[in-house]
Amino acid sequence: MPKVPEALRRSSPPRLPELSEPELVRHFTTLADRTFGVDTGFYPLGSCTMKHNPRVHERLAGLPGFRDLHPYQEDEAAQGALELMWRLQEMLAEIAGLPAVTLQPAAGSQGELTGLMLMRAYFADRGEDRDTIITADTAHGTNPASVTMAGYKLAKVETDARGNLDLDDLRAKVDERTAGLMLTNPSTLGLFDEGIEEVARIFHDAGALLYYDGANLNAVVGISRPGDMGFDIVHYNLHKTFSQPHGGGGPGGGPVAVRDTIEPFLPVPRVVRDADAYRLDHDHPKSIGRVRGFAGPFGVFVRSYAFMRAYGPGLKEMSEVAVLNANYLLARLRDVYELPYDRHCMHEFVLSARNLKREHGVTALDVAKRLMDYGIHPPTVYFPLVVPEALMIEPTETEPKERLDGFVDAMRQIVVEAAAEPELLRQAPHSRPVRRLDEVRAAKHPIVRYLFEEHPALVEVE
Ligand SMILES: Cc1ncc(COP(=O)(O)O)c(C=O)c1O
Repeated sequence: MPKVPEALRRSSPPRLPELSEPELVRHFTTLADRTFGVDTGFYPLGSCTMKHNPRVHERLAGLPGFRDLHPYQEDEAAQGALELMWRLQEMLAEIAGLPAVTLQPAAGSQGELTGLMLMRAYFADRGEDRDTIITADTAHGTNPASVTMAGYKLAKVETDARGNLDLDDLRAKVDERTAGLMLTNPSTLGLFDEGIEEVARIFHDAGALLYYDGANLNAVVGISRPGDMGFDIVHYNLHKTFSQPHGGGGPGGGPVAVRDTIEPFLPVPRVVRDADAYRLDHDHPKSIGRVRGFAGPFGVFVRSYAFMRAYGPGLKEMSEVAVLNANYLLARLRDVYELPYDRHCMHEFVLSARNLKREHGVTALDVAKRLMDYGIHPPTVYFPLVVPEALMIEPTETEPKERLDGFVDAMRQIVVEAAAEPELLRQAPHSRPVRRLDEVRAAKHPIVRYLFEEHPALVEVE
């Protein structure tokens, strides 16, 4: 064992907070009891698809042949894992309506970056110099962030009065410098873009590409395919659409599908099948290279594969029920909250608490905090940015009608409370382990280190 050089060695042991094992167990158990998750209650966090994760997936991901596989295992001894990955690629390709898939990216946002790197490689190969990506003004924050990280300039296109991309604004912005569009469809307003074919025509006529942010794919699986809409590159959020416990940082999966013209640039290694054998293929000279260690988040692949196989050809029903549940909630809440775009929604919808603010000085944040007192996780708030006092609600397909009705009752009761006792909402939550937090301070001054100075008793013991 090589020795640490004398000069770099500690002169005294590190200062670590010490507790007995039972005290430590109590500490973490208490924290766990305070946690709220999809297993504790309704979690309609818009755009995040917090659905139930069947427990059988954990058993499958824990099978010794999967669990104990070393990432450097030679292909011949990892045939089962490679076959699973290959089959998952095939299913995802069918869902997107595009021929080739990489499983490597670890999240939707990394899929976005990968997609933009693919665009760059594609245009470089054609000797074209394009520098701008267009996103919608409803785009998720990761879209502009990925555009900037990939070294592109960003241009934003506005949303029209029906909640579609404004085609006139779009036509004025697309030119020979445009590399592509990055769009979620259905959008973060929960609306399917009615002009998507014309949008695709505008970009393709200009020689540009279309990127599909698949965060909202839960609305359309088996019903419409991004490839058929004209998208050239698509990412999936396996942790949203295809079951994977998420929130709190992962792990996630963000595979990317592409049209045949972009296939040569996909990351390596690629999982391929030769006759009846599977292998990792590195031989793609135009590839953008690796975007993640090893072959990607394998446990995520097992869970998503199991999820899709359990549904089988009925996968479409998943999206149909997700859309039905969202429209049911919308129909039962639209008379008490403002509805900025009066259309049927897809798997989620956006209401505005502007009426409560105007009439009673109660904000979307107050509504969200009060929902916690009813044992419900707040929806996404203040996003998309084009809707003031936005409440973005996504029930998912895994909720029964009774649970949806409970949410409606709470949301309607909050409107009654806003008129009768607005202060109750402004001070909410009242029944949670912590009350209203100073979120700006928590974000700007996070305490991420144990401060001995604040625990002199422990320092003395030391
Ligand atoms: C519309 C949209 N796009 C992209 C993302 C990024 O996905 P991920 O969290 O997997 O990086 C999200 C995540 O919530 C999203 O809602």
